[in-house]
Amino acid sequence: MMDSSCFRSLSKFTTFAISLLLFLSCFSFTTTEAYDALDPNGNITIKWDVISWTPDGYVAVVTMFNFQQYRHIQAPGWTLGWTWAKKEVIWSMVGAQTTEQGDCSRFKGNTPHCCKKDPTTVDLLPGTPYNQQIANCCKGGVINSWVQDPANAASSFQVSVGAAGTTNKTVRVPKNFTLRAPGPGYTCGPAKIVKPTQFTTPDGRRVTQAMMTWNVTCTYSQFLAQKTPTCCVSLSSFYNDTIVPCPTCTCGCQANATHPGSCVDPDAPHLASVVADHGKSNNFAPLVQCTSHMCPIRVHWHVKLNYKEYWRVKVTITNFNYRMNYTLWNLVVQHPNFDNLTQIFSFNYKPLTPYQAINDTAMLWGVKFYNDFLMQAGPFGNVQSELLFQKDNSFTFDKGWAFPQRIYFNGDNCVMPPPDSYPYLPNAGSRRDISIVALVTALLSSLAFFFARL
Ligand SMILES: *[C@@H]1O[C@H](CO)[C@@H](O)[C@H](O)[C@H]1NC(C)=O
Ligand SMILES: *[C@@H]1O[C@H](CO)[C@@H](O)[C@H](O)[C@H]1NC(C)=O
Ligand SMILES: *[C@@H]1O[C@H](CO)[C@@H](O)[C@H](O)[C@H]1NC(C)=O
Ligand SMILES: *[C@@H]1O[C@H](CO)[C@@H](O)[C@H](O)[C@H]1NC(C)=O
Ligand SMILES: *[C@@H]1O[C@H](CO)[C@@H](O)[C@H](O)[C@H]1NC(C)=O
Ligand SMILES: *[C@@H]1O[C@H](CO)[C@@H](O)[C@H](O)[C@H]1NC(C)=O
Ligand SMILES: *[C@@H]1O[C@H](CO)[C@@H](O)[C@H](O)[C@H]1NC(C)=O
Ligand SMILES: *[C@@H]1O[C@H](CO)[C@@H](O)[C@H](O)[C@H]1NC(C)=O
Ligand SMILES: *[C@@H]1O[C@H](CO)[C@@H](O)[C@H](O)[C@H]1NC(C)=O
Repeated sequence: MMDSSCFRSLSKFTTFAISLLLFLSCFSFTTTEAYDALDPNGNITIKWDVISWTPDGYVAVVTMFNFQQYRHIQAPGWTLGWTWAKKEVIWSMVGAQTTEQGDCSRFKGNTPHCCKKDPTTVDLLPGTPYNQQIANCCKGGVINSWVQDPANAASSFQVSVGAAGTTNKTVRVPKNFTLRAPGPGYTCGPAKIVKPTQFTTPDGRRVTQAMMTWNVTCTYSQFLAQKTPTCCVSLSSFYNDTIVPCPTCTCGCQANATHPGSCVDPDAPHLASVVADHGKSNNFAPLVQCTSHMCPIRVHWHVKLNYKEYWRVKVTITNFNYRMNYTLWNLVVQHPNFDNLTQIFSFNYKPLTPYQAINDTAMLWGVKFYNDFLMQAGPFGNVQSELLFQKDNSFTFDKGWAFPQRIYFNGDNCVMPPPDSYPYLPNAGSRRDISIVALVTALLSSLAFFFARL
């Protein structure tokens, strides 16, 4: 830890220069597209198990495992595409379907389910008849995250492939996998032939195995998913009246002159019809309430109370997007006091420990049927919780320590206010007296987007 008196004596410029150097030394990480320091091994693995050979091809069970700690796939769900290596066709599918059949005119009699060279597959919806289901299918493409609900972190379908190889020597693995969830963000590697999967019967008395198995690994990059941030953080405390808002124009600017109606005034008469009209204009682009930050999501961190041995924080997540209900939302928060979290109200909690020794990161998510649904913008578009921490050895209200170092909403980084604006204790020295960690973190989160676009 840097001594604060020494730190205070540095000029503002030096402080900035140091931070910039630190930032550049981390640069290799921030530009490594899909690297996420809080979930370094996070990926979605797509596994194809060839269950049997047929006269003209094979039957495979395809399973997508979401091995990401906190990133899930929400409605309207995943879309999986690939390119066949030869002239394969899909005779039939169970638990999923292709979006287009393509040109099957070369077939007489039996027509395949799909003849496209690059089929696009989607999950079936809940309520699909039982005879068209297999295990882990038919959830409308929704896949939960590994920490939130491991039992629902996979999605499967069965595909019967024709005009394909019929032995493990002649079969060709599909190429060019694409995964949309539902938008862009994932990049998939090539399919790799791996050791055939072994299956144990439910009674545990017999093990069978696939004829052949290949795996495809897909990783997420926030920069591929969207050009601008989608979430920001505001701060307040009991010891200072200042509410530090989200940075202005974090996710966009109000451009009334050039784009009238780019956001919605919540006080406008006929609000509902304004929103409905926008809904008709096609896409899933957010339609946000007019705010200075224009973000669909704001996370507010309020340092609420100070007891002798404990302190208490209130966290509020507000949805400003009229076009989105967030199901199964989650929050990842990094703060050094999470190793002594004593109680959390009305949210679920699990520590994330990507680096075994450090326990400063928490995943928070809603309680099923109570607040796991974050409603579209409006009077009900928020969820909140309180956290009770036992003060640990480094505890202080000084230097912005009580504020989080990093927050993710649904796996995407939320932009923090600049650290020199943090509310500070009355009589607590100069404005520059802030935690270097907070400074670097905020620089990282704001500059990451800037550099990503260079
Ligand atoms: C994908 O995630 C799993 C589970 O965390 C991990 O074992 C595997 O090594 C990861 N794959 C890659 C290519 O990172
Ligand atoms: C193909 O099958 C043969 C046995 O039929 C086996 O010896 C060989 O290892 C298999 N190859 C692959 C790539 O699975
Ligand atoms: C891979 O798929 C993408 C999008 O579906 C397409 O643009 C690209 O040309 C494909 N590449 C190959 C080698 O087929
Ligand atoms: C292939 O994927 C399955 C399921 O995710 C995993 O258990 C297996 O270890 C993977 N194999 C390799 C070689 O990565
Ligand atoms: C845009 O309009 C809103 C109200 O609809 C107003 O509060 C805001 O100041 C305007 N912004 C600009 C840049 O004119
Ligand atoms: C969000 O959910 C509410 C209640 O279920 C529903 O009335 C509303 O239409 C939904 N909004 C969107 C954008 O899906
Ligand atoms: C991290 O801290 C929390 C809260 O004190 C505790 O419940 C959890 O067991 C700790 N996890 C690890 C891996 O030390
Ligand atoms: C805080 O947690 C750490 C690790 O879990 C533990 O070693 C330490 O004693 C705790 N501090 C307090 C004040 O309880
Ligand atoms: C509260 O913090 C702000 C910085 O965000 C500072 O400008 C203000 O003077 C502080 N108020 C008091 C009473 O110390």
